[in-house]
Amino acid sequence: MYTIAVVGCGYWGPNLIRNFNSLQGCRVKIVCDINKKRLAHMVSRYPGIETTTDYDELINDSDIDAVAIATPVQLHFEIAKKSLEAGKHILIEKPMASSVAECEKLKELAEQQNLTLMVGHTFLYSQPVRRIKEIIDSGDLGQILYISARRLNLGLFQKDINVAWDLAPHDISIILHIIDVEPVSVNCQGKAHVNKGVEDITNMTINFNNGGFATIHSSWLDPNKIREMTFVGSKRMLVYNDIEMNEKIKIYDKRVEVPPHYDTFAEFQHSYHYGDMYSPYIKQDEPLKIECQHFLDCIKTGDPPHSGANESLRVVQILEAASESLKNGGSKVEIAR
Ligand SMILES: NC(=O)c1ccc[n+]([C@@H]2O[C@H](COP(=O)([O-])OP(=O)(O)OC[C@H]3O[C@@H](n4cnc5c(N)ncnc54)[C@H](O)[C@@H]3O)[C@@H](O)[C@H]2O)c1
Repeated sequence: MYTIAVVGCGYWGPNLIRNFNSLQGCRVKIVCDINKKRLAHMVSRYPGIETTTDYDELINDSDIDAVAIATPVQLHFEIAKKSLEAGKHILIEKPMASSVAECEKLKELAEQQNLTLMVGHTFLYSQPVRRIKEIIDSGDLGQILYISARRLNLGLFQKDINVAWDLAPHDISIILHIIDVEPVSVNCQGKAHVNKGVEDITNMTINFNNGGFATIHSSWLDPNKIREMTFVGSKRMLVYNDIEMNEKIKIYDKRVEVPPHYDTFAEFQHSYHYGDMYSPYIKQDEPLKIECQHFLDCIKTGDPPHSGANESLRVVQILEAASESLKNGGSKVEIAR
């Protein structure tokens, strides 16, 4: 039986508490928040759960095997570092930390201590994303020419991180998981309209070592909630709409063929192929439940998590390069290795 502590009971923390409590072989003993109203709410839902406003208390509790961290991003590093030093396994919400240097330090600590460090890149545990990876790995779409992602809605405005650090970690983690190419550079433009100095809209381009690229549009300033990714392949195209209830993935048998040889302009014609659209059946499972179970399994076996330190560090390397590009008006910035 693993004993878990959760730090941060705002929007996302309660989802972690609910899922860990629903799994066999673990229990949430104690939760922490500086907001006492949130703690009272947790007690009303889980009578008997212990609470604290000081995370050091649960870190020093010898009963606790693992700490799940769902606080604002600037606190991830400090809580994770102290937890690892105290010998606890950790599940940190995305993004792993506020800088590459912080992520590298946490990775090193977890390796030294032989502890599981996993980051909550929830979409890697979702059935649609797993299905898209299977489809792309099978070659059904052909060569992936480009990917475009849009994650837009009105709010929730954050004060400590811009919209790219808030929303783009989902798209970046999905893209890196699905396609097996190396990101080499980033361009990112954006604007802060509501809170000075905190961009609420960003447009990022990630360039890959095979010449391909992905664009990620993130916004807190849009009338519609949009969660959409398009994978354009040389044979077929796939649209993943996470807002759709049932048909989240649609595969379009559409492509353009350029004639290999032509002598005159009259002979030159693109050939447009319009075929069927189909939507594969996707099982409905809560991704966070699969993620929490995977965390417990990794603690038990010592296996590296699907969203471990290496994968999550890669996401922060891209975000950090994007921030530098933003400062320089969108110029190309190499991604640090
Ligand atoms: N995986 C996902 O899909 C997903 C979705 C939403 C948020 N998140 C991540 O979860 C984390 C939290 O986001 P949120 O939307 O729940 O934020 P939130 O602001 O709603 O909640 C954060 C909570 O942390 C508490 N807190 C602040 N300082 C604290 C401290 N020193 N000690 C203890 N508690 C403290 C706040 O009082 C608040 O209740 C972020 O990293 C965010 O990126 C992940």
